[in-house]
Amino acid sequence: MQILDGSFVSAHIKEQIKQDVINWQAAGGKKPHLAAILVGNNPASEAYVGHKVKSCAELGFESTLLRFNTDITEAQLIDEVKKLNENDDVDGILVQLPLPEHISGDAVILAIDPAKDVDGFHPISQGKMMLGQPTFLPATPYGIMLMLEHYGLDVAGKHCVVIGRSNIVGTPMTILLSRNTNPGNATVTLTHSRTKNLAEITRQADIIVAAIGKPKFVTADMVKDGAVVIDVGINRIADATKKSGSRLVGDVDYEGVAPKCSHITPVPGGVGPMTICGLMKNTLLAARQKASVAAE
Ligand code: GUN
Repeated sequence: MQILDGSFVSAHIKEQIKQDVINWQAAGGKKPHLAAILVGNNPASEAYVGHKVKSCAELGFESTLLRFNTDITEAQLIDEVKKLNENDDVDGILVQLPLPEHISGDAVILAIDPAKDVDGFHPISQGKMMLGQPTFLPATPYGIMLMLEHYGLDVAGKHCVVIGRSNIVGTPMTILLSRNTNPGNATVTLTHSRTKNLAEITRQADIIVAAIGKPKFVTADMVKDGAVVIDVGINRIADATKKSGSRLVGDVDYEGVAPKCSHITPVPGGVGPMTICGLMKNTLLAARQKASVAAE
């Protein structure tokens, strides 16, 4: 069994991005600038945004973090997004999800200029992805594709079973895995909370992508020998043996499943760091594209 080490792979890719930024600036380009919006103080969102801002500093990007209280209205938040759209110094915009219940995430994402949509969540980005046109790919599925590519894992003709149909992970994952690219050309089954006989389906999988958001949901009996298992889950569970009283686990019961796998991602240190790579690559691309439009 080989561990797919997201921390290692992301460090390697981040070094490449850092060098790309140095070369880009040496050729007269300006620092890529990512603006992040965080509403409220959800601890998980705080941690994710913190990692993104830190990565910007490491890679030579500029970053701006805009924080708002949960009493901000949808209209006010959309105005803030529009200001970032119009700010010529900003290359990429991300709005950390989830948003408070009184704000429609769809409406806020729709307000982002698609040229700055480095999370790849805007309907235009998602539509282009579906059609196989160049665009910003959603950061987590993009990061998983980068990981498969790094390890040379051949998915062509393989049966991939994706568990979970979210707009930001499960659904785009099915598109990226099935399209005619490398990695790609997989046969994909999308499963979800209403799927009947799930274990029967996952046992047929050469590759499982677990993105259902339920701790240790995928158990050993659901996995065939030699499968590749990609765990997208980041769930905090109580653990009295830890000083903090809790620990992070994925959507996969790692201890039970790992011995059966050919390859598996750990949590933490698997998909999480790869998501940051996807975001940073998108932000550098946004900066390059903006510069080339300005030069026309
Ligand atoms: N919430 C959970 N994952 C993500 C992500 O990749 N981007 C944003 N903006 N919010 C998230």
